[in-house]
Amino acid sequence: MFGAIRLAYLVVSVSNVPEWKRFCSQMLGLPEPATLDDGALAYRLDEAAHRLILREGGADDIEALGWEVDGDENFAVVLVRAEKGGAQPAMMDEAAARLRNVHKLAAFTGPDGVRNELAMALARAASPFRSELVPGGFRTDAMGLGHAVLIASNPEAAGAFYREVLGMRLSQTLRVRIGPVTIEGVFLHCNPRHHSLALFKMPSKRRLQHVMIEARELRDIGLAWERAQKLDVPITLTLGQHPEPDGMVSFYGLTPSGFEFEMGANGRLIDPAKFEPIALSLTSDWGHHPTARAKWNLLSAAIGAKFGRRIRA
Ligand SMILES: [Fe+2]
Repeated sequence: MFGAIRLAYLVVSVSNVPEWKRFCSQMLGLPEPATLDDGALAYRLDEAAHRLILREGGADDIEALGWEVDGDENFAVVLVRAEKGGAQPAMMDEAAARLRNVHKLAAFTGPDGVRNELAMALARAASPFRSELVPGGFRTDAMGLGHAVLIASNPEAAGAFYREVLGMRLSQTLRVRIGPVTIEGVFLHCNPRHHSLALFKMPSKRRLQHVMIEARELRDIGLAWERAQKLDVPITLTLGQHPEPDGMVSFYGLTPSGFEFEMGANGRLIDPAKFEPIALSLTSDWGHHPTARAKWNLLSAAIGAKFGRRIRA
C-alpha cells in the first residue's frame, strides 16, 4: 500500500469564517474557495477539487483527516484492518461521498477519537490551479496536501495504529523541550514525503497542533514570511530549517482558529528502499526560534492541563 495512499484533505471546524477567508487568501495565497452543498468552504492547493474544507462550527479544531487510497483492493484492506483495530469503520452513503467530491467514502475512528475518512478518486477541479501569491504553486499531487500534526495521549500507540491500519511507516521519533514543556513525537510517512502525519504528546487545547502546506519554490516561502510580518500574523516559530533527513525550510504561525499553520519548502523526499527511522532531540538545524507568544501558549496549555481541562470533544 506504500505510495498508494496520501493525506488528501483536512476537514476543520472554524468559528470565524470571515477571518479564515482573509487568512486563506492574504496569508496562504489560496484562490477563492468553492462552497459545498452543506455550506462548507472548499479550498484548493492544486488541481484536486479541494484540500482544505472549512466548516463553520465552534470547535476550532480538526473534524476529519481525509486519506485517499488507490485501488479497490487497498480500500478494502484498510477497512478490514480498521475493523481489526477496533476503529469501527463504516461506509458512507453517496450523498456524503458527493460532499467530499470522491467516488467512494468510508470513515473510522482513530486514536483519541479523531475521525479518519477513507476516500477513492478525489475529483479534479474544473479550472487550472493558480495562486497569485504563491506563483510556483504547492507540492501536492501523489504526496497529498502536506502534513498534519495531531495531539495524541500516547504517540507510540497512535503511531502503531496508523502503521497497522494505513500501512504508514516510521520516519522519526522526537523528544524535545520547548520553553516550559517537553514534547514527544512520532512522525509517519506513507509515500516519499518525509511525514504526512505526526503525533505529539504535549499540552494543547486542541487535537490539531498544526497543518503544513509546502510551496514548490523556496522563494514563495520567503515571500510568505514577509507577508506574515506585513499582515501581523502571530508567529510561533520563526523562519528556520528542520534537520535532515526532513530538511524543510519553514515558519509557523497561528491560524484564526488558534491551532498553528506551517508554510514550508525544500522538504527532502524519502527513498523507501534505503530509509532508516531516526530519533531526534532537536527540531531545527537553524532558526525556528519559539516566539514569546509560542512560549506563552505552551505555558497556558500546560497550566490548563494541570488543572484538568480536557480537549473539547
Ligand atoms: Fe510540521
